[in-house]
Amino acid sequence: MKKSSEYSGLYKLPVAKRQEFVKDFANLTDNETAAFSQAGALSLDVANRMIENVIGIMPVPLGIATNFVINGKDHLIPMAIEEPSVVAAASNAARMARSAGGFHTESTEPIMIGQIQVVGAPNPYDARFQILAQKQRILKHANEQDPVLVTLGGGARELQVRVISTESGKMVIVELLVDCRDAMGANAVNTMAEAVAPLVEELSGGRVRLRIISNLAVGRLARARATFKKELLGGEAIVDGIVDAYAFAAADPFRCATHNKGIMNGVTAVVLATGNDTRAIEAGAHAYAARSGHYTSLTTWEKTSAGDLVGTLEMPMAVGIVGGATATNPIAKLSVKILGVTSSRELGEIICAVGLAQNLAALRALSAEGIQRGHMSLHARNIAVSVGASGEVIDKIAATMVAERKIRVDRARELLEQYSKS
Ligand code: MEV
Repeated sequence: MKKSSEYSGLYKLPVAKRQEFVKDFANLTDNETAAFSQAGALSLDVANRMIENVIGIMPVPLGIATNFVINGKDHLIPMAIEEPSVVAAASNAARMARSAGGFHTESTEPIMIGQIQVVGAPNPYDARFQILAQKQRILKHANEQDPVLVTLGGGARELQVRVISTESGKMVIVELLVDCRDAMGANAVNTMAEAVAPLVEELSGGRVRLRIISNLAVGRLARARATFKKELLGGEAIVDGIVDAYAFAAADPFRCATHNKGIMNGVTAVVLATGNDTRAIEAGAHAYAARSGHYTSLTTWEKTSAGDLVGTLEMPMAVGIVGGATATNPIAKLSVKILGVTSSRELGEIICAVGLAQNLAALRALSAEGIQRGHMSLHARNIAVSVGASGEVIDKIAATMVAERKIRVDRARELLEQYSKS
């Protein structure tokens, strides 16, 4: 039976009931569902093999955004994030998109770039031609490093060579274009770049220095678009406000940093939930936003002839569903299962749809009532927790502070004392 991600008021359910809802939606086993409640789902033993000098585990809340329809399929979205309102905002935007058909996505092949820096080539332009003339030999040697990737249909596909002018003189930059299939690909690409470096060095007559992947993954783009009906957004004036908000971001880097940060609230939360490299995605996103030399919006927002709003998001999306933390972190594996994806491209497209939803939610709130009202009750709860409240007392303190419009630590302390006595 086709399952629906539509759910209004998931927040009203207790945590255990929400877990049941997700279990049912994603066909999780009892053991898998139980893992959500275990602070130690990622064991110290596994963590100790992931990075160095491990002393513990840093937990982050995992929420579920509802209502997403992407390419006609319902999805629940796991989001790992510490910031209040993000999950609710994504669910709300997805609910609005839903009535106009949801999100439509696509992506390029998963091609990453591995760079090899050559300095001191006596004749850089001649070196460029010498290297290009040996393209097949270099690609073959690169592919010998990862027979598994090649068997899976991936591997080094192309070679490009550029001569650039730098403060240290002319450099020959050799770039391997590698199809990484369902891996993020950093390991495969870096291994290939290191392996072909001696041959590149010999051909260039110069010296190879860096051999490393580029996070500006222009060969691995995800795209999402969606239409939002004006009635659901709150009328044509809100549509105009959102288009103006976008124009502000597109023109002004100071606003644009915050605008794109709002997109990354959604993107990074899913990247983290699935055990992917948040820094790689952040670096790629902002570099892509600045690729013309002018830092601009990753999204676009336009008014249709019917007065509705149509938005697009295109961004680099170097995420994987095999290898790395995706394979070792049990919660990351569960997140991938909840998303129901079977390829890195599919995962990247969903992440892109979430980024678009998040941007819409932020721009709509900013163009209408502002974001503080929605933020305040969750913010008040966080403050109650920070002064040591627990259980029902958190809600009581938060409700009182919101009603009084005094959402402050000192007031939370007073209320805690008061409620503890009663
Ligand atoms: C807050 O985390 C994100 C926003 O500032 C994004 C935006 O301003 O567009 C609300």
